[in-house]
Amino acid sequence: MKVSPSLLAADFAHLSSEIDMINTSSADYLHLDVMDGVFVPNISFGFPVLKTVGKICSKPLDVHLMIVNPDRWISHVRDIGAEIMNVHVEATTHLHSTIMRIHDSGMKAGVTLNPATPVSSLEDIIADVELVLLMSVNPGFGGQPFIRHTLDKVRQLRNLIEKSGSNALIEIDGGVNERTGAELSEAGADILVAGSYIFGAEDPKRNIDLLKSL
Ligand code: DX5
Ligand code: ZN
Repeated sequence: MKVSPSLLAADFAHLSSEIDMINTSSADYLHLDVMDGVFVPNISFGFPVLKTVGKICSKPLDVHLMIVNPDRWISHVRDIGAEIMNVHVEATTHLHSTIMRIHDSGMKAGVTLNPATPVSSLEDIIADVELVLLMSVNPGFGGQPFIRHTLDKVRQLRNLIEKSGSNALIEIDGGVNERTGAELSEAGADILVAGSYIFGAEDPKRNIDLLKSL
């Protein structure tokens, strides 16, 4: 299993030691949640913070934009050195065009679905993306309980990917711990995002290792 710790749950007063912990852990990515207070009812951090994080983080950056008009920010996300740019299908009017522009900028494109958005909405775009990020909570806050219907969505998405010959990875975000992580692994997930389960732990590296072993 690949693991993408979500910086949202980190101690912002000690950002550099938190990122040091990630750099020296077995994590595969660092997940960065950008919120605008419009698409989601919360505001997190913006590009000045992301730029600094990009400079000191040695893991590939997995950027999750919970903002309206994500298209406007493609070059900013590229400039922080992101490997993956995730946009919500609910926030994007011309999804195909957005995906092409993310690729033209040299990044991998991820499409993200809210809990109530069906997997079938990806039928006509699945062949063009490197990753699908399924929200297993309503986006905006860390520490929420896992929505169990996500397990069905992972199985549906795995079928869609196989049917279409796409190479997209399946990433899950929200309420992930070793118990829900094991169920997600069995359902067919490739990458687990975890915030509070990692940064809220006494031994964060051990919890990263635990998720990796699933
Ligand atoms: C929520 C964010 C998540 C969040 C997950 O909107 O997209 O990445 O940090 O937090 P946990 O793992 O605590 O549910
Ligand atoms: Zn996220």
